[in-house]
Amino acid sequence: RIVHLADYRPTDFVLERVDLTFELDPTDTKVEARLIFHRREGVDASAPLVLDGDDLTMTSLLFDQIELDPARYTATPESLTIRDLPESVPFEITVVTMINPEANTQLMGLYRTNGIYATQCEAEGFRRITYFPDRPDVLAVYTINIIADKAANPLLLSNGNFLGGAGFGPDKHFAAWFDPHPKPSYLFALVAGDLGIVADTFTTMSGREVALKIYVEHGKEPRAAYAMDALKRSMKWDEEVFGREYDLDIFMIVAVSDFNMGAMENKGLNIFNDKYVLADPETATDQDYANIEAIIAHEYFHNWTGNRITCRDWFQLCLKEGLTVYRDHEFSADMRSRSVKRIAEVRHLRSEQFPEDAGPLAHPVRPTKYREINNFYTTTVYEKGSEVTRMIATILGRDGFKKGMDLYFERHDGEAATVEDFVKCFEDANGRDLTQFALWYHQAGTPQITVSSTYDSSAKTLTLSLEQMIPATPGHSAKEPMHIPLRFALISENGAEAVASAISGGEVSGDVVHLTQRAQAFTFAGIGSRPVVSLNRGFSAPVSLHFAQGSEDLAHIARHDSDLFARWEAITDLALPVLTGAAKTAREGGAVETSRAFIDVLLAVAADETLEPAFRAQALSLPSEADIARELGGNNDPDAIHAGRQAVLSGIATAGAGVFGKLHAIHSASGPFTPDAAGAGKRALKNIALSFLTIAENSPALAAAAFASADNMTDLSQALTILAHRFPEAVETKNALAAFETRFASNALVLDKWFSIQATIPGAASLDRVKVLMQSPHFAPTNPNRVRSLVGTFAFGNATGFNRADGAAYHFFAEQILAIDPRNPQLAARLLTALRSWRLLEPGRADKARAALATIEASPSLSTDVRDIVDRVLKG
Ligand code: ARG
Ligand code: ZN
Repeated sequence: RIVHLADYRPTDFVLERVDLTFELDPTDTKVEARLIFHRREGVDASAPLVLDGDDLTMTSLLFDQIELDPARYTATPESLTIRDLPESVPFEITVVTMINPEANTQLMGLYRTNGIYATQCEAEGFRRITYFPDRPDVLAVYTINIIADKAANPLLLSNGNFLGGAGFGPDKHFAAWFDPHPKPSYLFALVAGDLGIVADTFTTMSGREVALKIYVEHGKEPRAAYAMDALKRSMKWDEEVFGREYDLDIFMIVAVSDFNMGAMENKGLNIFNDKYVLADPETATDQDYANIEAIIAHEYFHNWTGNRITCRDWFQLCLKEGLTVYRDHEFSADMRSRSVKRIAEVRHLRSEQFPEDAGPLAHPVRPTKYREINNFYTTTVYEKGSEVTRMIATILGRDGFKKGMDLYFERHDGEAATVEDFVKCFEDANGRDLTQFALWYHQAGTPQITVSSTYDSSAKTLTLSLEQMIPATPGHSAKEPMHIPLRFALISENGAEAVASAISGGEVSGDVVHLTQRAQAFTFAGIGSRPVVSLNRGFSAPVSLHFAQGSEDLAHIARHDSDLFARWEAITDLALPVLTGAAKTAREGGAVETSRAFIDVLLAVAADETLEPAFRAQALSLPSEADIARELGGNNDPDAIHAGRQAVLSGIATAGAGVFGKLHAIHSASGPFTPDAAGAGKRALKNIALSFLTIAENSPALAAAAFASADNMTDLSQALTILAHRFPEAVETKNALAAFETRFASNALVLDKWFSIQATIPGAASLDRVKVLMQSPHFAPTNPNRVRSLVGTFAFGNATGFNRADGAAYHFFAEQILAIDPRNPQLAARLLTALRSWRLLEPGRADKARAALATIEASPSLSTDVRDIVDRVLKG
């Protein structure tokens, strides 16, 4: 069954109130739902009430407190249909369902994790708890009663404010919660169990005190301190930057160890994958800290963008996700280095979203059809959705964007809105027509922009010619030209920067060129000498630029641009031809020679102590193997790409050994560990210097010493990665892996790093390593984090191992998908997207990948989730 946006219509019945009573039991939980409805005005009097279910068993059904005649309803595990209902008066339905949380391995609905009860309802998990109009445009006020065994479940939590609790019989107790804010069912949450508490308070801008609680496993409380700090900073930031205040008496976060995604913004009761809550210097890397800060903020920000204003239907997912990612990106940029954060965002967008947009799973930011909504929690909806929001801010400017957001909050608070509603707020607040801009929501594919510039020295004009092409994507071939805002500067020979207004060609506002036609030539006058054009500064538009800029111009930008992002981008543009050239040479069996000019630019940036260390670390992290593969564009041989890239790294390491030695020494100076951006930047630079030094020396000695002396997880895991990836068979590596395993044997999140580091050791031998690791007592096939850390990082992060030429890893992978799917379809479907770019492989590998996909497709009992992905990946 395929759901189409065009088929949207409101429900026939309006839900007025929801009262839920849970009698919790690990295998026999009783859920009583009292729902008050009335027929929507104008709806046919004969229309039945149809409620969604998923795998439900009903034990009783009352209509206005009286048992309902079986002739008036039909109950199946998937739906409950009730007929002969009143024409206009409200009525009450009381449904009792019995569910088995212990048997819920999908982790959707009510499930058990580490002895506690937890829920995940987005997108369609609530229907696994009770029969319900389980769609985001049905908003209601909820009262929740929870009854459970007291000893095992001292905590009974749900959304909203705590109403009260008391004993209930000899061994049980109950608690009641009331959420005054109307919400859709996907924001429902319940947690019960025995957990440790970290408590704090926050006083909002209007002076209300909010209780803050983070619940973690007993003994892990100290590791929640950073998350609490990030939460308080998020609350303050949302008040200051977006004027948004929190709206309940209490805000709770619960960390659970079995979770399909990162976290969930349930009203007042966020539930998190514990990986994004728990941190201390000994067990968390700088990246972990940054992720925790970003995800705590993301879920908190959803309280307004997602909860107070929710989505009319799931096609509008980007309305809350793209916008909220944009908000968390801005938050992190304010907390850390804005340019470095932007570089990391663009790296992520290019490595995850660009391939999605260029492959069989491509879809618009606002899709128009889906078979399984869980498969649309994609990097296109989230990250490209965020970029689209950012472009609105670029086009309208800071104040214009703010006006539009204010209007959005004012106009749609308490509603389930659409992307059109959102865009309209910016139009109305600014008097600007955004019709063409809105194509960003509707046209998939990364726009390809061809650029050329000509300088006329006698007329003193510069002409910038731009042409856009939007590639065809599945189901959509003919595309309209889009509105593409490109930030720019003209840099003169002495490094001075100017923006100029165009005398002809189209709109240029401030430092933004607005490309709106298929082809456009902008002419700028009064330019005294030939400038270097710095274009798409700050990555103002998520496009691919094809700008035949000479390497001297790129080097000029790399050395002088005042926009650090543009400098990094120029280094990337210099690096890519070097790396693709090296891959081609390696494929032909030739010897790779790395361009000296490129090395000089790179080392000059690396050694420039006026530049922040985090930026230099980014500059030194050359484009990834996936970036090179994308640039090559097809018929790819992952072994040659790897070999070519390694040869370039060697060239840099040899030429730069002196620089790297100095960097390593300067930035190793240790003080007490702090997880802030400055400390993280120094560690990143030191560790990348260490990896180059190791290549230059071709010995595990330095990394082994770093491993032995590390006093934090960033340094420790980096040293272990260098050892394992460079010298997998060395005794130093074996000792370090064993020491790491022993030291962290009781910390599952740290063991995930141990799995991932080994799963990404390059080369064909890694498949056997992964198979052995699956037998480790630390591995747990039912835990999503464990599966992702081993099978996921192997498939997504080990190009040479996963794509080994004999296809054995594809075969293994297909077996894993088929084994995971019956337990946890969401996890299986997400892993399977690792094969989305199979058509870009050389024919030998492509055939073998296709065969593995065909094996999956041939299975008679696939979940809708996996069926949807495998069909699209094979066909598209
Ligand atoms: N709304 C959550 C977030 O982005 C994601 C939940 C998705 N869950 C799912 N099962 N599809 O913060
Ligand atoms: Zn989100």
